[in-house]
Amino acid sequence: MEIKLRKVNSVSGIIEVPGDKSITHRSIMLSSLADGNSVVRNYLLSDDCSRTIEAFRKMGVEIKSDKTSLYIKGTGLKLTDPMCKNYDIYAGNSGTTARLLSGILSGQDFEAIITGDESLSIRPMQRIIDPLLKMGADIKSKGGLLPLLINGRKTLKAINYKNERSTAQVKSAVLLAGLYADGPTTYSESVKSRDHSERMLKTFGVNVSVKGNSVTIYPTDKLVAQDLTIPGDISSAAFFIAAAVIVPNSNLIIRGVGINPTRSGLIEVLKLMGANINLVNIREISYEPVCDIVVKYSRLKAINIDASFIPRMIDEIPIFALIAAQSEGVTRVSGAEELRVKEVDRIGAIVSQFEKLGIQIKACEDGFLINGYSKLNITGTVLNSFKDHRLAMTLAIASLIANGETVIKDSDCVNISFPDFYEVLKSICN
Ligand code: S3P
Repeated sequence: MEIKLRKVNSVSGIIEVPGDKSITHRSIMLSSLADGNSVVRNYLLSDDCSRTIEAFRKMGVEIKSDKTSLYIKGTGLKLTDPMCKNYDIYAGNSGTTARLLSGILSGQDFEAIITGDESLSIRPMQRIIDPLLKMGADIKSKGGLLPLLINGRKTLKAINYKNERSTAQVKSAVLLAGLYADGPTTYSESVKSRDHSERMLKTFGVNVSVKGNSVTIYPTDKLVAQDLTIPGDISSAAFFIAAAVIVPNSNLIIRGVGINPTRSGLIEVLKLMGANINLVNIREISYEPVCDIVVKYSRLKAINIDASFIPRMIDEIPIFALIAAQSEGVTRVSGAEELRVKEVDRIGAIVSQFEKLGIQIKACEDGFLINGYSKLNITGTVLNSFKDHRLAMTLAIASLIANGETVIKDSDCVNISFPDFYEVLKSICN
């Protein structure tokens, strides 16, 4: 599928974005492992989250849903062998499903295989295999890639693991495996990655202690079922924040967005660049901070972003690159080598498509240099999303300030994280 979009005069209105993807995955996983019935409200109904739902259904968990809520009848920490029905657990495009599930499967009483789509099948899995093997897990892979054959162990060994890389997926895989360990497991990282797992494990009654960038989880035999509400996804809100900031005369309110400090790097950076952005009505839902974001067109100054910022805005780098292209001065992004192993090589993909639009951008191994105040004056550009949802949405926002009509190929990949993206976008364009 392809979509055609045109330059707009302004964006305005009051909108909401769907539930947070990371938090939805975790809520399905922990509710499935809990004793009793959980409700997950405002969950993200998207392709990635459906992969996690299907995985747990395959392992004996009853999950019912309506448009806004999931009703999950947890089976306790030990799931049912999926071999009884169908051997593979298909993670599709979802790194979070594959990696977090590996931690859980390492502590089960059965063997399972995790597979994925073309993109996920070339993404690195050794990063979860290494710590899980240290915990005594039995995992076989195809040279550190999917498919993973995981032969569950009754008990795992508690470990103390230090990771130089900041990654919530690896941290979460280890913490989830830690539920099945023979003692407390500690995971430390140099820069703190998103902490939704730690927060939610505590909510489900698990003893988790956090000291700086170290987390210790104490094994348990029971998770307590919960009634949770998922905040709006800041990574989805980011596209509309960007639209409001770069399209002249814009004024937008985005309601109910999660602003967990381990996720809100883009807002921090925009404030430093001089953006007219305000967080109002700050509150907490299900132990996550939430607010309404009021954002207006702004004249921004370039900034340098390094490894100390990257983890709290890792998924927002594509849209940030577009914002940087509309700011005064040269922006440098470094320490973002992780972008090379996302759904696609996001550094290469951004640079190739931005150049087509007339943006002056240069790739580096771990980021890029972007020349500000780029005029997107090339008419009738045909852009490739490479089936990467975040790139497709970034290019859609770019088309709002590009000359003429812009065509985006494989535009339907937004279904991975934000199925209604184009409808919401249309509703704010003037
Ligand atoms: C995620 C963690 C991040 C992020 C991904 C979702 C998660 O990946 O990029 O979109 O839900 O834990 P890494 O852990 O690989 O940094």
